[in-house]
Amino acid sequence: MYEEFYGLKTRCFSKTPDPAFMYMSRSHAEALARLQYAVEEREVALLTGEVGSGKTTLTRALIDSLDSSFKPVLITNPRLSPAQFLRALAKKLGAEKPMHYKADLVEQINSFLYQFHERGQCPVIIIDEAQLIPGKDTFEEIRLLTNYQLDDTNLLSLVLVGQTEIKDRLKRPAYRALTQRIGIAYHLPPLTARETALYLAHRLKVAGRGEKIFDEKAIELIHARSGGVPRLINTIATGALLAGFGAGESMVGAGLVEDAVRDLGFLG
Ligand SMILES: Nc1ncnc2c1ncn2[C@@H]1O[C@H](COP(=O)(O)OP(=O)(O)OP(=O)(O)O)[C@@H](O)[C@H]1O
Ligand SMILES: [Mg+2]
Repeated sequence: MYEEFYGLKTRCFSKTPDPAFMYMSRSHAEALARLQYAVEEREVALLTGEVGSGKTTLTRALIDSLDSSFKPVLITNPRLSPAQFLRALAKKLGAEKPMHYKADLVEQINSFLYQFHERGQCPVIIIDEAQLIPGKDTFEEIRLLTNYQLDDTNLLSLVLVGQTEIKDRLKRPAYRALTQRIGIAYHLPPLTARETALYLAHRLKVAGRGEKIFDEKAIELIHARSGGVPRLINTIATGALLAGFGAGESMVGAGLVEDAVRDLGFLG
């Protein structure tokens, strides 16, 4: 289809957080550096950002950057009660049969953490989509994880990742005990106009296309309509490529981007 027409080896603007396409904008690089610092210092970190801004992509980049002295533990659907959360964690830490009662589960997790420590490995617990955590009780369990210490050394590091609204929730007094423990926080902004241009060029290049496809006006419009949010950039760019392919245009101009945005009526 359009891939062949535009000389692309793969689908260039797919919606999956594929690390091969990672474009390190200044803020993505800054976010990654802070997360790496938090992990090394065994801190609690909070990464926030708008929907589609690249948070999950960054968690993958963080995991890829960790050496064998870390054990990444990724929880991607934290819509869990406290007991479900602890059970999921115990499983991910290696428990074949997570205990039934909460007190036993806590002990089981503790013993796994201690074993990792003995082996010289530090678990890095990454909770993505943290805004889905149902109530403060599960958050309280997460906070209690930060109490696992040995001779003043934390036995794990914790990375909470969530959409912007989680910040309001964490401001409530009920969450104070957790927020006081957050040592590193970063909010991922959208891409600037210049970064949007570089982002598009980067993804095209990874997909095997060195030369431009989008002209300057097209790029400006993609930035304006996406607000610099990578997922929306991808959606609009794909729509514009499809429109360009349909029209047999070798370069994509603003008219084709406008067509794509119109077809994607939900963008407003
Ligand atoms: N720095 C980046 N480099 C390359 N692609 C990116 C980057 N940031 C985001 N993307 C792309 O944008 C899309 C959305 O990214 P991602 O899923 O990481 O966003 P998110 O912030 O986790 O969104 P949500 O809030 O819905 O969970 C993905 O297709 C991803 O490949
Ligand atoms: Mg995500």
